[in-house]
Amino acid sequence: MAIQSVCVLGGTGFVGRHLVRLLCEQKVAVHVPTRSTGKARQALASLPAKAVQADVHDVAQLARLFAGMDAVINLVGILHEQGGQTFQRVHVELPRKVIEAARAAGVGRLLHMSALNAAPDGPSAYLRSKGEAEQLVQASGLQATIFRPSVIFGAEDSFLNLFARMAKWTPVLPLACADARFQPVWVEDVARVYVQSLNDADSIGQRYDLCGPQVYRLRELVAFAAACRGRHPLIVPLPSPVAYLQAAAMEWLPVKLMTRDNFYSMQQDSVCKCAFPFGITPARLEDIAPQYLS
Ligand SMILES: NC(=O)c1ccc[n+]([C@@H]2O[C@H](COP(=O)([O-])OP(=O)(O)OC[C@H]3O[C@@H](n4cnc5c(N)ncnc54)[C@H](OP(=O)(O)O)[C@@H]3O)[C@@H](O)[C@H]2O)c1
Repeated sequence: MAIQSVCVLGGTGFVGRHLVRLLCEQKVAVHVPTRSTGKARQALASLPAKAVQADVHDVAQLARLFAGMDAVINLVGILHEQGGQTFQRVHVELPRKVIEAARAAGVGRLLHMSALNAAPDGPSAYLRSKGEAEQLVQASGLQATIFRPSVIFGAEDSFLNLFARMAKWTPVLPLACADARFQPVWVEDVARVYVQSLNDADSIGQRYDLCGPQVYRLRELVAFAAACRGRHPLIVPLPSPVAYLQAAAMEWLPVKLMTRDNFYSMQQDSVCKCAFPFGITPARLEDIAPQYLS
């Protein structure tokens, strides 16, 4: 039977907003637990999704949220640790609780968001925690599907928009990991993959790497984002030890732009070896990003 109701954890976020909209368009009943219904109201404005104030780290609350749902989608993730919000708590303990609550509520289908290069022995704490969660999900006995995107772009991304903003303020950009390679994937394509997977029995037990059609070096992405704003800063690649020190210094800023853990993640190229799944042709960065960056 087709999936008719889904609980989307992280549904107010960048990926979540796109996915919730697509699910609503498919007439799926969507429930979105959130720490802030105010934020959810803004994020999901005009969508017929139901936002529910909840502590998703509480198994009992989760089980109540999941009761009667056909599937659970877990998109919750952080790029930087802050206070008690550690990679272990958000990327490992939370998926463990999601699995426990799904079992308790009798929900069989789970779609889980990981990240490309996630592995228990990965180069960064971020990737290791995502890798640990994949192992939990794979061993859960649920009808699970895992998604592993490279960096995701789209109108509200915090990646290309950040570079475009930085280029506005400075003619010279010292850049860490300038030669790191990425294969950016459009947020709308990521959301479409989730929707396709929900009702595709063949995707149960699978793990999908998600990449756009082209590989770029970080310095090319920065130059591209800047050029979309009519800027052409001088990009100065930093030698690795300097880049490490820059990342360490940036950890002291109130807004985290870069951490040593991000530096470790970028020691490994974020590129795919396989085609995009479900017969979808992923969008080209050049066809989408100029519309929102300019
Ligand atoms: N964006 C990318 O380029 C990218 C690339 C690879 C993988 N991913 C993965 O994709 C997922 C979604 O990414 P995104 O960019 O959409 O993230 P996002 O915009 O930061 O949204 C994440 C959502 O998760 C919830 N959340 C965050 N921290 C939480 C915490 N400590 N406890 C409970 N809920 C929390 C938030 O919901 P409320 O505030 O409403 O509670 C938030 O809306 C993440 O797992 C991320 O690791 C993203």
